[in-house]
Amino acid sequence: MDPKVTIVEVGPRDGLQNIKNQVPTEVKTELIRKLYDSGLRTIEVTSVVSPKAVPQLRDCHEVLQSKTIKQLTQHSVRLPVLVPNIKGVTIAHGYGVSEVAVFLSASEGFSRANINCTVDQGIARAREVASEAKKLGMIVRGQFKNGTGMLIVCKRYVSCIFADPFDGPTPESAVLRVVKELLSMGCYQVSLGDTLGVGSPSDVRKLIQTLGENDVPLRQLAGHFHDTYGQALANVWEAYQCGIRVFDSSVAGLGGCPFAPGATGNIATEDLVYMFNRARVATGVDLQKLVATGRWICSKLGIPSASRASAAISAK
Ligand code: HMG
Ligand code: MG
Repeated sequence: MDPKVTIVEVGPRDGLQNIKNQVPTEVKTELIRKLYDSGLRTIEVTSVVSPKAVPQLRDCHEVLQSKTIKQLTQHSVRLPVLVPNIKGVTIAHGYGVSEVAVFLSASEGFSRANINCTVDQGIARAREVASEAKKLGMIVRGQFKNGTGMLIVCKRYVSCIFADPFDGPTPESAVLRVVKELLSMGCYQVSLGDTLGVGSPSDVRKLIQTLGENDVPLRQLAGHFHDTYGQALANVWEAYQCGIRVFDSSVAGLGGCPFAPGATGNIATEDLVYMFNRARVATGVDLQKLVATGRWICSKLGIPSASRASAAISAK
């Protein structure tokens, strides 16, 4: 296998944040361990947000102090933490976190629902977060396969790239503006989030082309596709064809945002790995171990897996 993609596993954060019943901390840390053992090397482990906003992840303190996280940080693995503000950065830094992910919406309605501010206020807040992260020394040097050193400050999300649950369709110009703002803050990557999972491959191609034509470097973009309309895998493939090489996904297709009514989980990591395996594109993930991890977490949560590849492999 020659070409390579990077998978950012968001199961422990995006995957769990919308689960109603409190998941025991040990299950969360065991999930992180199993994802690592499956070969995933970038795992978003939790978020440090208002516990009133996302009660499920209020145990972020325990997760970040856990033996599992301490052990994994000795290895070559990236464990970003989602934060909305300075408070989140400060807390994460206190636990030794070296990479944070900030999230912004390209549209107003979701911005207000999700982080209780306008898009402009969100951009200003993100600037503060970036500068605080730098001040705290939360800058690590990453090594990419081509040997180019890159400064990693934070990875950031742009939500609602195609539509907003409250405002309707998102204009491409709004996405372009937020992506450019984020890059100008010095982030190493911007993940394009179809929070509602409404986009399809033609939308993906059109947006990526627009971003590229407006001088956004494709190597700094990632795809984050929710699967509400069953389009996520096709969207990943289309984005790959357009030159994107980093994709966020969630084991067993878990997930969804409590502030995006009706939206379902992310593309299942198992399905992504299966697809890229067939295309001989390396992911570094052991599919059998990942399928077992997906089955394990679903049994703990008492819900079925959304991964089609997992169902097919498990039925054999
Ligand atoms: P606010 O009410 O405007 O903020 O919320 P505040 O500063 O007035 O704080 C309210 C309370 O939260 C206070 O506590 C703060 O201390 C506390 P109180 O005095 O009431 O007891 N607080 C915090 N606690 C812990 N960690 C923090 C923190 N900040 C404040 N970092 C705020 C604004 C942004 C805080 C809130 O709206 C919030 O936490 N939102 C997070 C929402 C969220 O996590 N959404 C899901 C993740 S985004 C997503 O899923 C999309 C993505 O996957 C991409 C995609 O799919 O598009 C990334
Ligand atoms: Mg998401």
